[in-house]
Amino acid sequence: MSRITVNLFFNRREICSASRRQHIIVVIDVLRATSTMITALANGAECIVPAETLSEARDFYKRYPDHLLAGERRGVKPSGFHLGNSPMEFQREVVRRKTIILTTSSGTRTILAASASPNVLLAAFLNVEAAAEKAVQLAEAEGVGITIAPSGRKHSFSLEDFLCAGAIALRLERADVEFSDFTWGALLAFKSLGEPLGQAVWMCRHARELREQGFGEDVEFCSQLNLFRTVPVFKAGRILPA
Ligand code: MLT
Repeated sequence: MSRITVNLFFNRREICSASRRQHIIVVIDVLRATSTMITALANGAECIVPAETLSEARDFYKRYPDHLLAGERRGVKPSGFHLGNSPMEFQREVVRRKTIILTTSSGTRTILAASASPNVLLAAFLNVEAAAEKAVQLAEAEGVGITIAPSGRKHSFSLEDFLCAGAIALRLERADVEFSDFTWGALLAFKSLGEPLGQAVWMCRHARELREQGFGEDVEFCSQLNLFRTVPVFKAGRILPA
């Protein structure tokens, strides 16, 4: 029986290298980039174009002025943008049938770092079950491993993404799946939560920072498990529903 390996890397170099090995990459940015993208596509957005920098996003918008320009720097909507990075802004009446150009401090960069893989999936608490199912289905079909890629905070560890990796690992636990130690760590952390997820997420530094900026409602929203079945897939520069 061939086994499916599941790794977890915060480091972008390791994420890049796993993507060159054609692993299925599952990018997580609970607060808030992947939660926002899942919400936008679940609410009928046609596709999302991730941009690394503000100027790239603005240049793209100049060429396609019918698109929506969205994103954040230091959590806040950049000047001239239609939308920030709050999932609450991506309501059906705003995003339906729209293409969204999105640039965020960390999440969109992690997605772009994984672009050598033909199978990049986006996950957050909002879609853990559907994302885990899709990842294992693709890994079986392609005969490759899965790499969970938490976006983290300023290129380093973040607890909310680690817990979400654990929630995904919980749904991948089966005899033919082999976890790295880091993946086991995430699974054990998620399993050992002695309180509801919504309360646990408030332990995370980024959650408290968002509350201080007036985005507490986003934290509550992003802490819901399996609100959507939408699994965004990044391919050829675009993010679409699977
Ligand atoms: C990011 O990509 O760094 C985050 O989504 C930041 C945020 O909370 O807006």
